[in-house]
Amino acid sequence: MRKPFIAANWKMNKTMGETGEFINSFIPLVSEAEGVDILIAPPFTCLNEASGLLQKTGIRLAAQNVFYEEKGAFTGEISAQMLLSAGCSDVIIGHSERRQYFSETDEIVNRKIATARKNGLEVILCIGESLEEREADKTFEVLEKQLTDSLKDIDPNGMTIAYEPIWAIGTGKTATPEQADEAHTFIRKWLNNNVKNSDQVRILYGGSVTPENIGSLITKPEIDGALVGGASLNPDSFAKIVLGAKVSS
Ligand code: 13P
Repeated sequence: MRKPFIAANWKMNKTMGETGEFINSFIPLVSEAEGVDILIAPPFTCLNEASGLLQKTGIRLAAQNVFYEEKGAFTGEISAQMLLSAGCSDVIIGHSERRQYFSETDEIVNRKIATARKNGLEVILCIGESLEEREADKTFEVLEKQLTDSLKDIDPNGMTIAYEPIWAIGTGKTATPEQADEAHTFIRKWLNNNVKNSDQVRILYGGSVTPENIGSLITKPEIDGALVGGASLNPDSFAKIVLGAKVSS
């Protein structure tokens, strides 16, 4: 049995002040949520502020990206050690928006994962197919390639994988629980076939998750939680998703 895991990806939203307001409202709303792991991924500029406010709550803190080099002349980039010093325990790597707008390839994702893990950060690896790929019946082929290439020479035990179909992100079009479950089952089989003792690796679903649909998603055996974008920006709706994962699991 894997513990449900609900993660907020705020993307490029919220200032420091807004981060403080969110966290102060959110903490009391999830005080009854033992049994669910919770994580928040604010923008880099709010990590330190969030870290202070989240202390002793058990809520984990992630960055949304990291660079694969350790330090040096890489203007604008952020290293794993910088994230640790800002209070992060986790980092999201390979989000489809990074792949789409910043040309991140599986090779870059692989290097980022290696550096993050070497430095002791927990990793949430995002994978998922586009609408064209799904319509061309290439979903499993795409997932297999992303898993194989992103995890080359990496043991994913201790990591989390987020299945985020690109066509469901920010569109209001959630994958049906059956579509999500089918992809999760494929990922689970890939893990079973390629990685020893990987049954504790959690697989999250991401793409238009809301308080209304979390219940039907989390009841699927291979869906261990959710990576939430839009609905994580409001403390009430994100808390409802956390509590929905607890009730249904
Ligand atoms: P939405 O929940 O806004 O669709 O975003 C999902 C996502 O990309 C989380 O990483």
